[in-house]
Amino acid sequence: MSMKEIYHIKEKKEKKCVKISSERNGKEFRKEKIMRENVTVFEHPLIKHKISLIRNKDCGTREFRTVIGEIAMLMGYEVLRDLETELVDIETPMEKTKGPMIKGKKLAIVPILRAGLGMVDGMLSLVPTAKVGHVGMYRDEETLEPKEYYCKLPVDIDQRLVLIVDPMLATGGSADAAVEFVKKQGAKQIKFVSILAAPEGVKYLSEKHPDIQIYCGEVDRGLNEHGYIMPGLGDAGDRIFGTK
Ligand code: PRP
Ligand code: URA
Repeated sequence: MSMKEIYHIKEKKEKKCVKISSERNGKEFRKEKIMRENVTVFEHPLIKHKISLIRNKDCGTREFRTVIGEIAMLMGYEVLRDLETELVDIETPMEKTKGPMIKGKKLAIVPILRAGLGMVDGMLSLVPTAKVGHVGMYRDEETLEPKEYYCKLPVDIDQRLVLIVDPMLATGGSADAAVEFVKKQGAKQIKFVSILAAPEGVKYLSEKHPDIQIYCGEVDRGLNEHGYIMPGLGDAGDRIFGTK
């Protein structure tokens, strides 16, 4: 996966919209979307393919959960591309040498409950030593306001790169509340990773928190009158845990 396969998002000030371009096989593709500089939308065909699998209403709980984990791993691979490395001494069976290893940077993965839990194992498969925090949040079905019910973070969260994960970024209310909470606990470097997003949520979160990086597997058309992403994939939590 190369950086060229990621959308590069630049703000086009005069039109208040954004030109997104990507380059693959020497060809440049362009799209118009309302976004900001701190938003990356992945274009990798494996991510796109897997998102199409889980959109299908006939995708069962087991497959849905598996594929969410696979997408999380593919996204995590790119999200962590800028981790710093340092040269360390190594002794191979042949001779002494030096090789790059991830520099002291500690990580925390923070899923927004419940659906975010589906992304944890995929991320942990890349960084097994990461600590895991939890932010319990559900959307009130009437008001769409996030309601907090459980929060627990690693004690040294201020020294960690924090990856907040949630497959769905809809209105952005839950993501905003989670970011606010993590910031209040002292976190300084935060990345928000979602699989499907609505333009409304991307705009809201990126404007409210211009200091964090936001990553999306896909940005859909918009929200319906109940705050669901369209065409979307339905209720991610229910589909991961088979509760509906
Ligand atoms: C879903 C999803 C996000 C939130 C997104 O969770 O996992 O956390 O909705 O919506 P928003 O951007 O409008 O806040 P939900 O409240 O359904 O809880 P669940 O994961 O327990 O099902
Ligand atoms: N939460 C979900 O699980 N799905 C949506 O489409 C919106 C919010």
